[in-house]
Amino acid sequence: MNYLDLETYEKLYRRFILGDRSEQMLDLAGDLTGKVFLDICCGGGRLTNMAMDRKTRRNIMIDSEARMISKVLKHNAWTEVFIMTVEDALREMVKTKKGVVDEMIDVAMCQQGINYWLTQAKAGNLSRVMSDGGVFIFNTFNKKPDERTKIREYSLERPFSLKDDHYVEVTWRIIGKWDDIQHVQICQGEEPHFTKFKWMSDEYIRYCLETYFDVELIKEKATSIYKCIKKERQ
Ligand SMILES: C[S@@+](CC[C@H](N)C(=O)[O-])C[C@H]1O[C@@H](n2cnc3c(N)ncnc32)[C@H](O)[C@@H]1O
Repeated sequence: MNYLDLETYEKLYRRFILGDRSEQMLDLAGDLTGKVFLDICCGGGRLTNMAMDRKTRRNIMIDSEARMISKVLKHNAWTEVFIMTVEDALREMVKTKKGVVDEMIDVAMCQQGINYWLTQAKAGNLSRVMSDGGVFIFNTFNKKPDERTKIREYSLERPFSLKDDHYVEVTWRIIGKWDDIQHVQICQGEEPHFTKFKWMSDEYIRYCLETYFDVELIKEKATSIYKCIKKERQ
């Protein structure tokens, strides 16, 4: 499924961008100086740009949607962008041992994207390309959406303007093997955007990760942030 272009994403999903967790997630990773940083489902590269300010040595960004990659990314010789799915990127990285990246990852992060891809197999592949003691941090929502459609309406002040933009979000869950969340995002002046992703309980997240990582949960209201430290190879 195609995703949006960055400009439309930033307008449609402004409520989520205002609730940005980048600083908090980066703080949890500790000192980034000299580290190899991986931004999974990077979109416009909010995390990567801030990580660079914290003096990472090398940055790798993965997103399947080229139109989401920011044109104002602080490009430098030590930042690579891979336009491919997380599944393909991790598979490639593991297959060649070096793969698309010829170094092990010290810090991996995924902001607002984990529900699109996490499985136990992919968690395993991620751990295989991470250095010992490497940190993987991501956020997700922790309230299970209802089967019945839920409608949320709100207005946000348009940036640099006294006008408001009016928003409607419709969310529902379809029960099945994966419990898919369906989501329609509407903002005046834009075409609606439909996306779907998996519901992930804490039990499911731990089932995927705990073979490979020590998992710590930091829970704040409706958002959960997970900090996972790669286990030493048995
Ligand atoms: C909600 S946006 C988050 C973007 C960015 N991390 C942020 O916080 O602004 C989700 C991103 O995940 C990407 N995405 C979804 N499924 C993916 C997959 N299987 N592989 C790679 N990227 C994916 C989309 O293209 C989109 O850019």
